[in-house]
Amino acid sequence: MEVFELINNLQSEITAASPENAEQLELFRIRFLGSKNVIKPIFSEMKNVPNDRKKEFGQLLNALKENAENKFKLIQETFEVKADGESSDIDVTAPGFPYLQGSRHPISLAMERIIQIFTKIGFVIAEDREIEDDWHNFTALNTPDDHPARDMQDTFYLQNSTEMLLRTHTSSVQTRVMTSQKPPIRIIAPGRVYRNETISARSHCQFHQIEGLYIDKKVSFADMRQTLLYFAREMYGPDTKIRMRPSYFPFTEPSAEVDVYWGLKDETDYRITKGTGWLEVLGCGMVDPAVLSNCGIDPDEYTGFAFGMGIERQAMLLHRISDIRLFFENDVRFLKQFSGAL
Ligand code: DAH
Repeated sequence: MEVFELINNLQSEITAASPENAEQLELFRIRFLGSKNVIKPIFSEMKNVPNDRKKEFGQLLNALKENAENKFKLIQETFEVKADGESSDIDVTAPGFPYLQGSRHPISLAMERIIQIFTKIGFVIAEDREIEDDWHNFTALNTPDDHPARDMQDTFYLQNSTEMLLRTHTSSVQTRVMTSQKPPIRIIAPGRVYRNETISARSHCQFHQIEGLYIDKKVSFADMRQTLLYFAREMYGPDTKIRMRPSYFPFTEPSAEVDVYWGLKDETDYRITKGTGWLEVLGCGMVDPAVLSNCGIDPDEYTGFAFGMGIERQAMLLHRISDIRLFFENDVRFLKQFSGAL
């Protein structure tokens, strides 16, 4: 019968069709699925089909229609894939998952800022080990075994060792540099240090320091004072007030402590400055001649100054943070406040 032949031909046409762009696909749609498609009128041929073939006719015609629909969908999908290079299941308009962005740790930021201030006037960075031997950390720095000054820094020794320890200060880098370089020496040594201390708002068993050392001919106390005043004003603003108090360190003579004015506005200020309004930020002094000799530098030819400061202290001052423990708790609500703060 002619109508069966027609269905057959259309079936072959659909199978062979391969629209290559949207326009060709649209022509396919109009021809087979549009309101005036070629399949629809064939249904009305049913009445002319003999009874014993009516069932076959209906099945063939439905299959034809389904084929056309499936082919259209398939090709439309491949076009979409090509268009966005992704599976069509992806809804590109759906809101994305936000990436949690990290921020620089306030200690890193403060450290970097201090380094910058000193490198601007010719200091270079020196770094060394955190696991030190007793000699570099203490003895060379004029603090022999039985020296009462050892009590100033409660030390973590490595297990079963009286020789190896976690450095208690970055002054150990002074020793490393002086025993391996010839003056003039002008270094800053940033790094982590450890002390067996009770953890409180003011002290921790691990913290960071920056050590400074300047050795040359005729370096004076006045040079040191000016250098540290320059530092304080770069760090805290041009009107920053500092004061120097006589102090004691085994490796310097004379020694001093430098305080920065913090203020006495509220209760926290009283607590953190012990009611004085001043906050101690660093220790310093003229390098003791005995230290120079220990490290192979002639104290008759060279003099120098050294200083050491805790980074946490500086960051607390800068941001008016009253508890040192916050730096080590890794609470993002605290940490994220400092991105780009310096
Ligand atoms: N090392 C000292 C400390 O950890 C700080 C210090 C004081 C370093 C005086 C120095 C200095 O270089 O001259 O407390």
